[in-house]
Amino acid sequence: MKKVQDYYFKKARKENYPARSVYKLAEAQDRFHFLKRGGNILDIGCYPGSWSIYASKVIGPQGVVIGVDLQAGSRTQQSGRAAIEFIRGDIMDDKIIAAIQEYRPRFNVVLSDMAPQTTGNKWSDQQKSLSLSRRAFVLARELLAQGGSFYCKVFEGEDFKEFYDSVRPCFAKAKIVKPRSSRRESREVFVLGINYTRER
Ligand SMILES: C[S@@+](CC[C@H](N)C(=O)[O-])C[C@H]1O[C@@H](n2cnc3c(N)ncnc32)[C@H](O)[C@@H]1O
Repeated sequence: MKKVQDYYFKKARKENYPARSVYKLAEAQDRFHFLKRGGNILDIGCYPGSWSIYASKVIGPQGVVIGVDLQAGSRTQQSGRAAIEFIRGDIMDDKIIAAIQEYRPRFNVVLSDMAPQTTGNKWSDQQKSLSLSRRAFVLARELLAQGGSFYCKVFEGEDFKEFYDSVRPCFAKAKIVKPRSSRRESREVFVLGINYTRER
């Protein structure tokens, strides 16, 4: 397992990404192609920024990535890529939706790789993680354009099925993705919804 970890860690360093987690998005994109040129992307829990950088390359200069995190990030703009705007804030805060909508009213893709501060208590860590995933889905329902996609980290546990069952009917297609770059012993998986079909 360590070998896999080292491989993705080194690969991320070589390709100038700040975190190995980038491949958890890149693998899903290679299979399902939900990030499209010129899209508006919301990246929740974006720090240190690998997913935002990757998405900004895929969607190109006509698109935009809005990143949100508790930790401080910064705005970046590089030629040939989409601008990355950054909002420092707590996704649980009621005012966050209005802050995001100052940039764009709707998004083509909502990404969430949020993870809570862990305490070591498996049950409580899992509950905290699930409440972040549920909140990400609330934001997705509020902010996704029709036809949009949602890609969200979730920890498999007792309430996972209920979460997945709440996401599934809102999209034409839904999948549970376990990227190879996600450690096998970790219970993290990613829920992917493609083609948002719900009326608001
Ligand atoms: C695994 S990291 C994300 C890594 C990122 N996808 C990347 O590739 O660089 C998880 C992030 O979720 C953020 N986070 C956790 N709870 C949050 C909350 N309530 N609001 C905003 N961000 C949160 C953490 O601050 C942390 O930076």
